Amino acid sequence: MTTRTALITGASRGLGRALATALSDRGWRLVVDGRDPARLAEAAASLAGVTAVAGDVADPGHRAALAEAVGPRLDLLVNNASELGPSPLPALADLRADDFRHVLDVNVVAPLALVQAVLPALRAAGGTVVNISSDAAVEAYAGWGGYGASKAAFDQLTAVLAVENPTLRIYAVDPGDMATDMHQAAFPGEDISDRPAPETVVPSLLALLDGDLPSRRYRAADVVPAEVSR
Ligand SMILES: NC(=O)c1ccc[n+]([C@@H]2O[C@H](COP(=O)([O-])OP(=O)(O)OC[C@H]3O[C@@H](n4cnc5c(N)ncnc54)[C@H](OP(=O)(O)O)[C@@H]3O)[C@@H](O)[C@H]2O)c1
Repeated sequence: MTTRTALITGASRGLGRALATALSDRGWRLVVDGRDPARLAEAAASLAGVTAVAGDVADPGHRAALAEAVGPRLDLLVNNASELGPSPLPALADLRADDFRHVLDVNVVAPLALVQAVLPALRAAGGTVVNISSDAAVEAYAGWGGYGASKAAFDQLTAVLAVENPTLRIYAVDPGDMATDMHQAAFPGEDISDRPAPETVVPSLLALLDGDLPSRRYRAADVVPAEVSR
């Protein structure tokens, strides 16, 4: 079987790193990114078959470098890198326009542009897109308006992309709460150690990849590995 290739954004920490580790263990070839080159290099050093390209997904030149590193075929794109916005999370009454624009740029504009950049490679492989969403896209939590609006827009882009690209599987996935740096930034000073580790979400993502569920939005907790696998 030919080696499968995945592009995972934001794979130097948290959920992206946990998924990259699992796919590397399965023999996938990986292209990964993150803004901090040292942290990305440290993560990549622990994985086999990885091309690490440091940069910001909001930078068009960086996205072009990712597409170049992917090459002509791509089996999986995971748009995982994301921007929470200011910490502590401000009420919408206090959300600065520049901060909101940045959240939208990283969480909505950049992942769509990355899909566009690798679409020929995804089509060549009959590939899968997994866009990492959040429950903040569908629930009204105080302070989460900017980030939540970006994830709601991301969900809608995902749904329309799926309709427009029926030969691909295109999922939005809400991973649920995870004990990560982003979650800590959302709850500064609080003990978040009761939240699940990002590794606990990986079996659901792998089940989605291995199965043939239709393109749409899923909560990771609802994707039960034993029921999905072929
Ligand atoms: N944690 C939760 O409770 C939770 C809940 C619901 C949804 N989510 C979603 O799950 C996904 C993963 O979050 P996480 O909690 O694992 O986050 P995390 O631990 O903070 O990791 C974020 C990763 O993305 C990279 N990154 C951030 N901004 C980037 C940018 N502009 N360009 C390139 N890389 C960037 C980070 O590296 P650098 O900082 O070096 O760039 C890091 O590797 C996100 O889409 C998030 O919205 C998380």
